[in-house]
Amino acid sequence: MTDLKGKAALVTGASRGMGRAIAQRLAADGALVAVHYSRDADAARQTVATIEQAGGEAFQVQAEFGTDGDVRTLLTGLSAGLGGRPLDILVNNAACGNQDTVRAGSIDRLTPGQFDEVFAINVKAPLFLIQATLPLMPDGGRIVNISSLATRIALPSQIAYAMTKGAVEVMSRTLANALGARGITVNTVSPGSTDTEVTDTLHNPQVRTILADLTALGRIGRPADIADAVAFLASDDARWITGNVLDATGGAYLGPMWAR
Ligand SMILES: NC(=O)c1ccc[n+]([C@@H]2O[C@H](COP(=O)([O-])OP(=O)(O)OC[C@H]3O[C@@H](n4cnc5c(N)ncnc54)[C@H](OP(=O)(O)O)[C@@H]3O)[C@@H](O)[C@H]2O)c1
Repeated sequence: MTDLKGKAALVTGASRGMGRAIAQRLAADGALVAVHYSRDADAARQTVATIEQAGGEAFQVQAEFGTDGDVRTLLTGLSAGLGGRPLDILVNNAACGNQDTVRAGSIDRLTPGQFDEVFAINVKAPLFLIQATLPLMPDGGRIVNISSLATRIALPSQIAYAMTKGAVEVMSRTLANALGARGITVNTVSPGSTDTEVTDTLHNPQVRTILADLTALGRIGRPADIADAVAFLASDDARWITGNVLDATGGAYLGPMWAR
């Protein structure tokens, strides 16, 4: 556990999956957490309830990225929930498209509209959310963006999704340089295959075995694996780390298996 008492954090896409685990972990470390969601208010309420049952503090905020006024809507809910407190930690986790071949699709099927949509949700919204929340963030704040293993290996069925995550990594490095003067760190956590609702292919035992075999640590990731990495980067222990991509894949696709 790290000490985030007295801090406030916003986790986007915290109604389920990794975002929920990140919100729960930051709250367990003592932060007041804004639990962002898009459509599933019940799931967001459940994230807030589990945090409160564990003795933490949280509130929910809604905004559907990729729609007009998305960031403005989020900021209104966030400011109301914070009640004048600063925002110390921003985790850009919400995204679409990693298993959705319609929106993330292959070169022969991808349409300009689908490309625009996945970039609006995965890149434009996080960038302008950072811009909008910077005035609320004190010097020494923390920004953590979630990328993907898809930037390190070539996945032909996920071209637009992978490109958005490449953009997120460039955004993080660039903003780390821009915001260093204020002591704000900007880092990226890059998960591999992780057990969340979105990863329906992971319900197939054969796929699970193949992916686990391609991973040095020999299993599929769990949301808590990613949440712990984010909590480290959000903590004071990571004060000297900025502009990094932290690979949190358990060593996926590190090299040939026969050499083990
Ligand atoms: N799972 C994996 O194997 C994997 C691997 C590598 C990287 N990642 C990355 O890790 C992050 C979390 O993934 P996950 O698997 O936990 O995702 P998930 O279970 O699909 O959850 C996605 C979250 O993002 C929100 N969201 C979806 N579309 C949105 C939109 N248009 N506007 C605002 N919020 C939206 C959802 O809100 P609602 O519930 O309200 O819809 C939900 O809270 C993502 O950045 C993903 O790209 C995942």
